[in-house]
Amino acid sequence: MTAKVIDGKAFAAKVRAQVTEHVARLAEQNGIQPGLAVVLVGEDPASKVYVKNKHASTIEVGMASFEHRLDASTGEAELLALIDQLNADPKVHGILVQLPLPAHLNSELVINRIAPAKDVDGFHISNVGLLGTGQKSMVPCTPLGCLMMLRDHHGSLAGLNAVVVGRSNIVGKPMAQLLLGDSCTVTIAHSRTKDLAEVCKRADILVAAVGRPEMVTGDMVKPGATVIDVGINRIERDGKNKLVGDVHYESAAAVAGAITPVPGGVGPMTIACLLANTLTACCRANG
Ligand code: GUN
Repeated sequence: MTAKVIDGKAFAAKVRAQVTEHVARLAEQNGIQPGLAVVLVGEDPASKVYVKNKHASTIEVGMASFEHRLDASTGEAELLALIDQLNADPKVHGILVQLPLPAHLNSELVINRIAPAKDVDGFHISNVGLLGTGQKSMVPCTPLGCLMMLRDHHGSLAGLNAVVVGRSNIVGKPMAQLLLGDSCTVTIAHSRTKDLAEVCKRADILVAAVGRPEMVTGDMVKPGATVIDVGINRIERDGKNKLVGDVHYESAAAVAGAITPVPGGVGPMTIACLLANTLTACCRANG
């Protein structure tokens, strides 16, 4: 079997087009422009690239983008004061603090200072609790993007065995909650799981979000399964710098029914969902 490739890039373009259309309608009919504020503290090279891409995509769909770049030595009080200011700003509907923060800053304290209604990352403890209890919340962008691709491919997910490899607060745990909400039978596996291959092999839906290059190999995939690869890892191979996922693509694609590539799978969907979340926050704020 050769897997169907789930084209996240094309899907994300469709989502962004829908957002663009809705943003234009808001401007025309209500005179409202959704606004996203992104806060970057320090000089982490990967974070700088992410923030730049977020800014460009925000502008492209017609939203206002407010970038706040702070020095790596910024103190907690100063960062919290900025968040308070953004919380109170009616032009700002979504706030994202790029992670990781420098080590001297308490990420939980900072994230929980964001007004839950503006927390477009869905990381605030209120949104985590709302998602966990099946209530209306802001849903983390990466798992939301994965869910959209899975729904598009399968239609209903009810009754399917889903295995999420990885237990992070950003991806693994919210992904499991979303799959449970769609009536999957969900297992969360991780680096300490016994006989990981056997656990993975039971999955109709296998989501890899462990942050280890090519850890999930074809022999761990059930024939016909849908494989979602959340990983983005830079490795050296044959003297070249290469981007690979948490899934060994060639061996997995030979067994799976469908698979997301890296790049061009989950990545583009994350930014599209951030824009969709900002639009949602704006619509909720304006009744
Ligand atoms: N760093 C890596 N992924 C993310 C994300 O989804 N949101 C934020 N705020 N920071 C990140």
